[in-house]
Amino acid sequence: MTSIDLSTAWDHHASTYTRVAAPCTGYFAQSLFLSVAGRLPPAARVLDIACGNGELSHAAVLHCLAQQRAGGAPGQVIATDFSEEMVARARRNLSALEAGDVVRCEVHDGQALGFDAASFDAAFSAFGIFLFPDRSAGWREAARVLRPGGLFATAVWRGPDDNPLGRLQMAPVMMSLPEHVRASLPRPGWLDITTPEGLTKEVTAAGFVDAEVTVHSAALTAPTPQAMWTMMHESPLIRPLFERCSEDELAVIERSVLADFEELAGGADRPVRFEASCHFLIARRA
Ligand SMILES: C[S@@+](CC[C@H](N)C(=O)[O-])C[C@H]1O[C@@H](n2cnc3c(N)ncnc32)[C@H](O)[C@@H]1O
Repeated sequence: MTSIDLSTAWDHHASTYTRVAAPCTGYFAQSLFLSVAGRLPPAARVLDIACGNGELSHAAVLHCLAQQRAGGAPGQVIATDFSEEMVARARRNLSALEAGDVVRCEVHDGQALGFDAASFDAAFSAFGIFLFPDRSAGWREAARVLRPGGLFATAVWRGPDDNPLGRLQMAPVMMSLPEHVRASLPRPGWLDITTPEGLTKEVTAAGFVDAEVTVHSAALTAPTPQAMWTMMHESPLIRPLFERCSEDELAVIERSVLADFEELAGGADRPVRFEASCHFLIARRA
């Protein structure tokens, strides 16, 4: 998929993502900001890369406004995403904070950010850079736009053994995936950074030092098994798998997923809850 196809896929997924995933990923994203907030310099210029509907930026703007109320300069938050629809959602959500120039929402591809070198004090990416087709370019761009010593923080899912969300979501898909699709599956590259060591090695290679990695957990509650299936079916990450299946093959996968999730939930009209676990990496620009 080209970058434009991918951003269009995220445009289409934005509404479902916001409704079903963001209450959980948004909790992680806000916690990621709060894990760094105490170390930010006064009036920090903060970048949110792959901001989605703006959850991390929301916490960052509240931080700036609190500094302003305390009599200091607020600093500034720039929320960016390559999906125009996600940026529009972030803008709408953040406008409720009435923060004026303290926040800007802009379309940028995180693999080639349109900002000057060394122009931010802190850069964040919650569940963003880890899924870029060119992840190294994402880490390098984050390093490039940070001033030396600037703070970088990212959230990345742990591997299936340590993250029930990933494991339980994909188990019924993998069980019913036709052999011709299963045989052609590449090993997802992001598995290399599911361990603290793998993540630290890759991020450090892009120009960061003093990396700390910690484990964080929360639950994703989908209102019904069907809502979770719809999200998976639409997801730009999983959908390419389904596009290689015939209609009949896809119907088999859907039945398998719904049966599994209904068992987990205790009924088709019950919420289905997935424990989710991720790593936060916090580092400094060398
Ligand atoms: C899993 S969502 C995370 C959103 C948000 N950070 C959160 O934690 O809720 C991934 C986001 O990455 C964005 N994204 C994917 N590839 C991107 C790229 N190359 N440049 C910028 N944003 C990208 C998508 O549009 C989507 O909003």
